[in-house]
Amino acid sequence: MLPSYFALNLEQQLSKITEHGFCVMDNFITNTTAMALSNEINLLYETANMHEAGTGQALISINKHLRGDSIYWLDEADASIAQQVYFGQMEALRLGLNQHLYLGLCSLESHLALYPIGAGYKKHIDRFKSANNSQKIDTAIRQISCILYLNQDWLEADGGHLRLYINALEATAESPAKAALAINISPLSGRLVMFLSDTFYHEVLPAIRDRKSLTGWFLTR
Ligand code: OGA
Ligand code: MN
Repeated sequence: MLPSYFALNLEQQLSKITEHGFCVMDNFITNTTAMALSNEINLLYETANMHEAGTGQALISINKHLRGDSIYWLDEADASIAQQVYFGQMEALRLGLNQHLYLGLCSLESHLALYPIGAGYKKHIDRFKSANNSQKIDTAIRQISCILYLNQDWLEADGGHLRLYINALEATAESPAKAALAINISPLSGRLVMFLSDTFYHEVLPAIRDRKSLTGWFLTR
C-alpha cells in the first residue's frame, strides 16, 4: 500500500500540501505527453541546447560535484504542444493552490532537466527563508517547487530518487535525529512532487540511467 501522500485527486493533494507542506501526485500528465517531453529533452541535448546548471543563490557557479544536471528554460510564449499541456495543468494547479494556501502565486518558471548517468544534486533548499523582497522590490520569490518526472519504465533499482527531508521543521537540538527523517521518491513518468520551497531540504540521488524531469517553481512578487 502506498502511503497517504501518494493519494489521487487534486482536492486531496491540495489538502495534503496544506497539511504537510508537500505531496506526490501520480499521473499528473499522460504517458503520451511525458514521452513527448522526454523526446524534446533528447533533441535539445543532441543539438547542444541543454546547458549545465549552476548552483548557489545567484546560480552562477557551475559545480558538477554539487549538481550534475543540464537544463533548458521554457518560454510559455514559444511552447510546443506537450509544453502547452504542461502549462495548462500547472495553471489549474496554481489556481487550486491559491484557493487553498492563499499564497497569491502569480507566475511560474520552468526548466527541463537531464541528469546523465551517475549525476545527482546534493542536499539543498530551493529558497532560503531570508531571501525575501526587502531589498529588491522587483524580485520574484520561489514559493512552491514542483518536479514532474519523465522517465518511462523506471525501476526502483535504477536509483535517481528524490530524497525529501520531511521533518526539517521539527528538528531541534534535543532531537537532531528528526532532521534526518526523509522519504525517497522514485522519478516515475507522470509523477509530480510538490513542496514548499523554503521548508524542505532535498537531494537527487545518482541513477544508473539518464534521468529526466521538468521542474517548475510558482512565484510571488
Ligand atoms: C531542483 C531539484 C529535484 C529532482 O531542480 O532544484 O531539486 O528530483 N530537483 O529533480
Ligand atoms: Mn531543488
